[in-house]
Amino acid sequence: MNKYIVTIALTSMLLPPSISQAETAADNYKTYCMQCHGMEGNGMGANIQDMSVQPRDHTDAKSMGGRTDVELFKVIKEGGLAINKSSLMPPWDGTLTDDEIHELVQYLRKLCKCKHAS
Ligand code: HEC
Repeated sequence: MNKYIVTIALTSMLLPPSISQAETAADNYKTYCMQCHGMEGNGMGANIQDMSVQPRDHTDAKSMGGRTDVELFKVIKEGGLAINKSSLMPPWDGTLTDDEIHELVQYLRKLCKCKHAS
């Protein structure tokens, strides 16, 4: 038990104190999304030559604005098939927490500079 507490204390000392949620989402995007969706989120990731369905351009306000936050959350958590899209968009449930997925939805809204119309 004590050992556990010490470990937590040490870990929190090692982490920079000011990692904001936005930076975490940007990091998660770089780690998990960029290889398909691209460095700038424009859908031009390294994988795309081999993909029969091209990844969404997350900077495209028109198509991203057609999605609600709930749909974006669902497609990230459960994968493309959950919203009748390609299974090439993988599910991230188990890799990312619900909180991290909510933050990614907000991050996507920054990339597209858009909101859902409703
Ligand atoms: C293996 C490649 C790949 C990775 C990695 C990937 N995606 Fe995708 N994603 C796709 C493809 C392909 C589509 C387009 C699916 C379609 O149009 O049928 C897509 C579509 C989407 C959409 C749009 C759905 C829509 O039509 O409105 C969102 C949002 C999305 N991805 C978010 C993410 C996020 C966030 C991550 C990282 C956590 C991620 N993707 C990682 C391949 C990928």
